[in-house]
Amino acid sequence: MNTQPIGMFDSGIGGTSIWSEIVRLLPNEHTIYLADSKYAPYGERSSDDIVSLSIKNTEKLIQMGCKMIVVACNTATTNAIRILREQYAIPFVGIEPAIKTAALATKTKKVGVLATKGTLSSKLFSDTSGRYANDVELIEVIGKGLVPLIEQDKIDDAAMRTLLQAYLTPMLEQDIDYLVLGCSHYPYLIPLLRSLIPAHIKIVDSGEAVAKQTEKLLRLHGINGNVDAPNYQFFTNSNTETLCKILDRHQYPYNAQYMSF
Ligand code: DGL
Repeated sequence: MNTQPIGMFDSGIGGTSIWSEIVRLLPNEHTIYLADSKYAPYGERSSDDIVSLSIKNTEKLIQMGCKMIVVACNTATTNAIRILREQYAIPFVGIEPAIKTAALATKTKKVGVLATKGTLSSKLFSDTSGRYANDVELIEVIGKGLVPLIEQDKIDDAAMRTLLQAYLTPMLEQDIDYLVLGCSHYPYLIPLLRSLIPAHIKIVDSGEAVAKQTEKLLRLHGINGNVDAPNYQFFTNSNTETLCKILDRHQYPYNAQYMSF
């Protein structure tokens, strides 16, 4: 047993979608979440930049006593997790677009992938696609501008609808039957996405898979927690209000504050 917290980080508030899946599956763990909103979006940055930011967040979480780190960001995972695993001894869980799930299930053999530029251009993404989606056509679209709107609490704005309509058009023209959400911010767009795509198209995100992987790794390393009253701590280096607004969508008590990092 180990009652140290599980650390998580994302380029901003989006990874809270992953955090909520983790605490639902693992209700006896403390968590510490870093929202690196000051440096969002990661998706438009160079790979070197994404690695440096991921190292900065990792060191902060280790300093804060975390026993494991969940990289709750596809862009950081696909660009930096290999390096993090090489440099630090604690276990890391990453998140990647759920290409395998969609590729195994698609009937039309056409799968839409909405993700950041940083994820879609990464080696890990092309390796995963090559391995699992060889016989499937992936219609990859960069969700440019989506993360900044979510970070500004503009999830339901007309501007978001306009962007999504434009990004979905090439996918719908190609008759996709699966839409993979390759960014941890995007699950918050599911209600809007549902209103823009036909009902037969399935939307897949990786939240539940990441939670299961977190549970598996805790068990493997023998570091599960057993706390009765878990503490959910959130730190942002930007706007606390937007972070709290997104956390209020979930049914868990939390503590959120500003911190410079
Ligand atoms: N949540 C991040 C991801 O999963 C967003 C990346 C960004 O900041 O552009 O990719």
